[in-house]
Amino acid sequence: LNSFQFKPFSNNNYNTFRPIYYLGCKSSFSSIISQAIDELDPSGGRIIDLFSGTGAVGDFLKNKREVLSIDIQEYSRTICSAILNPNLISKEEISTIIKNTSIFTNENYHCFERLIKYEHECIQKASIGEVDPLIEILESPTLIIFIEGNEIIPESNFGDIVRHTINNLANFGLLDSKNTLITRYYGGLYFSYMQSLHLDNILSTVELYGANKRDTLMSAALSTASQIVNTVGKQFAQPIQPRSKSGKVKKGLVKTVQRDRSIDTLHAFKSWLFKYSSLPVSRKKHQILCLDFATALNQYGKSASVVYADPPYTRDHYSRFYHVLETMCLRDNPTISFVKKNGKKTFTRAIYREGRHQSDFCIRSAAPSAFETLFSLAKDNDLPLILSYSPHENGDGTHPRVVTLDKIIEIARMFYKHIALSEIQGVTHNQLNSRLLKLKPRTNSEILLKCHN
Ligand SMILES: C[S@@+](CC[C@H](N)C(=O)[O-])C[C@H]1O[C@@H](n2cnc3c(N)ncnc32)[C@H](O)[C@@H]1O
Repeated sequence: LNSFQFKPFSNNNYNTFRPIYYLGCKSSFSSIISQAIDELDPSGGRIIDLFSGTGAVGDFLKNKREVLSIDIQEYSRTICSAILNPNLISKEEISTIIKNTSIFTNENYHCFERLIKYEHECIQKASIGEVDPLIEILESPTLIIFIEGNEIIPESNFGDIVRHTINNLANFGLLDSKNTLITRYYGGLYFSYMQSLHLDNILSTVELYGANKRDTLMSAALSTASQIVNTVGKQFAQPIQPRSKSGKVKKGLVKTVQRDRSIDTLHAFKSWLFKYSSLPVSRKKHQILCLDFATALNQYGKSASVVYADPPYTRDHYSRFYHVLETMCLRDNPTISFVKKNGKKTFTRAIYREGRHQSDFCIRSAAPSAFETLFSLAKDNDLPLILSYSPHENGDGTHPRVVTLDKIIEIARMFYKHIALSEIQGVTHNQLNSRLLKLKPRTNSEILLKCHN
């Protein structure tokens, strides 16, 4: 086992594009990873970015190599496609898109008008100290839970307006319309009702466009949702909790709600459209697929000359944090998942999709064999492999990785003769001594494992 050294080289000369807030996004390390990839495979051949997420590594490499970007989630495919094969939308076209998106259909707006106004009033009242009505909205199940009869609508002002909204939706035949999906599922929880209705309108507009432009438009919508979402950490797993465990209203609650819920959705969407439309176009041919890593290696392994793999490492499935983005792409009125609490079927506050992807890499018992599959398929295709071994932090603090580095090295050795590793600290690095079997990496360090035969 060898260690390898990175030349000190920062990302500063590269204008990093961060499409969404993403746990474990590699944009700060992409130049170091790129350097390691070039050392391992100087041929400059096609790279498979195997768990591509936000596409940070592919983006960095896109002018040097052909990139095959693979991820199991459709939102990742959408974003990587918009970054690797940008479709430049003209200023005039952006103006038309924004103009069309700013007009609500009468029925849609009519259905939610009272709810939108009520929430606005509650936020105003909260800013002068009357916070209970706002808290009722924040703690309430979303419309979909009431529509499906999983909770009883409360007897309150808010409850009356919810009932009125649901009757409106029923009268207009919009109870399961794609055009109201975001507002029905997530309105009042992750976004204000107004913002969610805007997101619904944006998605309806995106759908009108042909496949070539759709990924760019959809990515701008995903980036907008990630920017405006009203949660700590900008993810979709922990909706805002207005009270602490003792029942006291959290300090700063009203400010956070006001700040996020007053972001103008269309304005944000417009500025993301400009950002995506000014991404540099690369002359290389890139391919982006929504696939499981093993299927991808089986089908496309022979077409590449090197693999970069950045699987998840903690028990937190990515689908838990980004399920809303997946639903924005699929617009499929998903069934909501329920949990049993004291024998009673209870909805999850986060409104997860049933059957969201569960990665073997996040399951302690399944992860070792997932790594075995990864190394063995890469080796069968004669591909050198760079593996990131990353700590991921989330809102709860750092969760430990489900597989130890020693275990991963043990598995890698079953398939590769030469294995080297290095620890990255930010954009600097720590050289490890040669007795790496005794390696005790810092719990929080980012590690690269370089494997070849
Ligand atoms: C650590 S993140 C990748 C981050 C990425 N390198 C970046 O810079 O944004 C891990 C990714 O693996 C994906 N994933 C999990 N299990 C997968 C599987 N079985 N096949 C393909 N992708 C998977 C998740 O959707 C997630 O986007």
